[in-house]
Amino acid sequence: MPDSPNHAIVYGASGLIGWALINQLLVPYPATNTFKKVTAVTNRPLDLSETYWPEPDSRRPELQLVSGVDLRGWNKTTLLERLRQRVENIEDVTHIYYLVFTAMDDDIEEVATNRRMLQNVIDVHNLISPKLQFVAFVGGTRGYGIYSPGGTFTPPLHEEMVKNLPPDYAKTVVYPSYREILDTSSAEKNWTWCEVCPDAIIGFTPNGSQFSLALHWAQYLSLYAYNNGIGPHTQGNSTNPIAKIPFPGSLAGATSLFSPVSSTRLAQFLIYASLHPKTCGSGQLFNIADQETPSTYGSLWPHLAKWFGLIGIAPSEPGPETEYNKLKVGEMPEEVSSLAPGEYIAKYRDVFAQWGCQKAVTGGVGAGNRQLDSVGYWLTFDRQLSLERLMGTGFEGGRGRDPVQGWVESFGLFRRAGLIL
Ligand SMILES: NC(=O)c1ccc[n+]([C@@H]2O[C@H](COP(=O)([O-])OP(=O)(O)OC[C@H]3O[C@@H](n4cnc5c(N)ncnc54)[C@H](OP(=O)(O)O)[C@@H]3O)[C@@H](O)[C@H]2O)c1
Repeated sequence: MPDSPNHAIVYGASGLIGWALINQLLVPYPATNTFKKVTAVTNRPLDLSETYWPEPDSRRPELQLVSGVDLRGWNKTTLLERLRQRVENIEDVTHIYYLVFTAMDDDIEEVATNRRMLQNVIDVHNLISPKLQFVAFVGGTRGYGIYSPGGTFTPPLHEEMVKNLPPDYAKTVVYPSYREILDTSSAEKNWTWCEVCPDAIIGFTPNGSQFSLALHWAQYLSLYAYNNGIGPHTQGNSTNPIAKIPFPGSLAGATSLFSPVSSTRLAQFLIYASLHPKTCGSGQLFNIADQETPSTYGSLWPHLAKWFGLIGIAPSEPGPETEYNKLKVGEMPEEVSSLAPGEYIAKYRDVFAQWGCQKAVTGGVGAGNRQLDSVGYWLTFDRQLSLERLMGTGFEGGRGRDPVQGWVESFGLFRRAGLIL
């Protein structure tokens, strides 16, 4: 078989989606010789030996890690020069996966900043990568209006609905701008593009992430178990082998329907879509989830707690009849009977240092801390995704996987990487 000419470049390779995507490209998914080369671009420095990506072997595509690429700080000229200097064979790039996101307090500024970063990346590749075939980016259910209290559309959420997003809300989300950029920039070019829409993404990152719910809850559960004498560091010293931990949210937060996805499955579909431009290109949007049957946080919680030796129980906070269901994105009720996960982690973080988990001290969830604390309180409405369009693509993973699997795989990796006890 002749060598594949495909060269994938992944912007945001250190993030929640980016890590999983590089991992799958190197596995190699879907088969040996799909990609010849993979370039992983990151902003923060990344130590390859701490990424847990597959080691080089005869089946693995060649990997180049290019760190210190600050898309926010660099203009187009700087980006062009630096990429030319630092990315080997940039002229051979065939597939771009764009997974960068910078969260900012001001939504309008956030849109402008993120928009400029993607525009620069695409303009540069249009100049220097004549073999480009496909661009894929990841949006999210924010693009279906879930940041409005109570949501915007009646679920299941279908891809066509994004066209009816109220204009005042649409201007606070960057995804419509990304679509505009890619539509305009791909006109009369040999490449096409698609967008993939997940709700909560469950996965591993070696050095934190802005919005990793799995990491946030794993650190909470890990410290809670330790403080109750349970877990690998308390062997023989168990003070409470049946510690109960309530779901951190309200009853409505625990029972509302949603569609989580593991970062592995999301990554596999991104690769699949990019290799099937006829079926998946032309600027189409695809929802993605682990399963067509929706989940609830309340049904997942006991499984997550169990991994840490705890008993996950129903929330101790009141239900939907309270004012909780009027909360906006990231808002917590004023009175909550116990510490929120982020507050609990902050209070006991020293325990991680005490047991040599340095990564857990420095590599938490960063900017998304408050929003992740509030997940169980403000997301009190159904927001499940329709997977009809995804299943029509022929993606082999269309059959789906158990949503608990992504959590426990991530927990195992967090422990291996010293991000939890
Ligand atoms: N997390 C979720 O559950 C979730 C759910 C639905 C949708 N999404 C969407 O998925 C996209 C990616 O989010 P994520 O969860 O993967 O976030 P993430 O884990 O925080 O990753 C963001 C990535 O962006 C990179 N980045 C940030 N600022 C940069 C800059 N100035 N220059 C270059 N790279 C920069 C980061 O690089 P460094 O780490 O190197 O700084 C990181 O790799 C976003 O559009 C988000 O809305 C996420």
